Amino acid sequence: MKKVILITGGAGFIGSHVVRRFVNQYPEYLIVNLDALTYAGNLENLKDIEDAPNYKFEKADILNVDQLTQLFDVYNVTDVIHLAAESHVDRSILSPLDFVYTNVIGTVNLLQAAKTKWKDDFSGHIFYHVSTDEVYGALGETGLFTEETKYDPHSPYSASKASSDHFVRAYYDTYGLPVKISNCSNNYGPNHFPEKLIPLMINNIINNKPLPVYGDGKYTRDWLYVIDHARAIDLIFHEGKIGDTYNIGGFNEWQNINLVHLLCKQMDEKLNREAGTSEKLITYVKDRPGHDLRYAIDASKLNKELGWSPSVTFEEGLSATIDWFLDNKEWLDNITSGAYASYYEHQYDNR
Ligand code: NAD
Ligand code: TYD
Repeated sequence: MKKVILITGGAGFIGSHVVRRFVNQYPEYLIVNLDALTYAGNLENLKDIEDAPNYKFEKADILNVDQLTQLFDVYNVTDVIHLAAESHVDRSILSPLDFVYTNVIGTVNLLQAAKTKWKDDFSGHIFYHVSTDEVYGALGETGLFTEETKYDPHSPYSASKASSDHFVRAYYDTYGLPVKISNCSNNYGPNHFPEKLIPLMINNIINNKPLPVYGDGKYTRDWLYVIDHARAIDLIFHEGKIGDTYNIGGFNEWQNINLVHLLCKQMDEKLNREAGTSEKLITYVKDRPGHDLRYAIDASKLNKELGWSPSVTFEEGLSATIDWFLDNKEWLDNITSGAYASYYEHQYDNR
């Protein structure tokens, strides 16, 4: 095997698309998917590649140093792509410490394991850390986040991701560990856990449930199709500069309320419902505390240096995403039974 790449969080939303891409594109690499299978991890996401000869799954926790050390040794890991994290802002408001443990301490554990394993010679190795644009804070009506924008996180989630980014840079500056970081805007697509805006709304439209829009609905996000994020990670992993940061974004800003209108329109058509049916489900609810007004990424560095740009329009990506959810009802039903119901109740009832 040319490389043994440890991908953490590979059973989650974005991680599963990254694992699939690397397993299919690079038969000469061994892909080891390390995931603790928290509520967000789901091996159903990887059914199509689970028997591939260049794929292994390891149930392990990045908080468990012994497990990490053992896995680096057993597989002779040459590279890391780190996606494992607690990833939902609303959950971070409910339980901030979980985010400190997994996102900060888990990342430092992984950095330390890589440094220890590769200590004799760092050359040829890569530690790729997958991060978010939320570390930059919130924009007003204008402007874009660039790689030079100062960090200004507001939520416990973004504060924990910012901290993990700082540790990754500290390992580069202090020890020379060969790191790369990318900061991406909001993703959407197949396998998205229905706690985030787009899959939650799709699930509620299917089930004729209220569509909870926080505050006045004028908050703005820049949406990127998850498969384009996985393409960008592949490109940066192979061709990006060691020590550099790359912003990844969709050049695709939507106010939440307009996005929900578009979703309602597309879903009424696909479900053969009368136009305007789903719109009636829209319900404005109490705002999220500390809600960031607007995120928008300037991805021109990635475009100029590595030639990346999104491959699908938002309308195409959203349509494909809705089709995936409609075709994978069992996946959705499995995920939304059990613990999801109590999370939903806690988060939305009496809001
Ligand atoms: P996700 O919540 O869907 O998946 C996270 C995965 O990490 C799950 O499979 C979970 O089981 C695993 N995990 C959690 N804690 C773990 C632990 N202690 N040890 C091992 N595995 C653990 O997240 P996602 O949306 O796919 O995000 C993946 C990464 O991309 C995260 O680092 C996130 O910050 C970043 N990111 C996400 C977005 C987005 O829009 N979702 C945008 C930019 C960056
Ligand atoms: P989310 O998908 O949680 O991503 P993030 O907060 O990381 O950007 O939320 C996207 C936007 O949608 C954000 O402005 C909050 C808003 N939102 C709602 O209005 N209702 C909801 O039920 C959810 C989950 C989010």
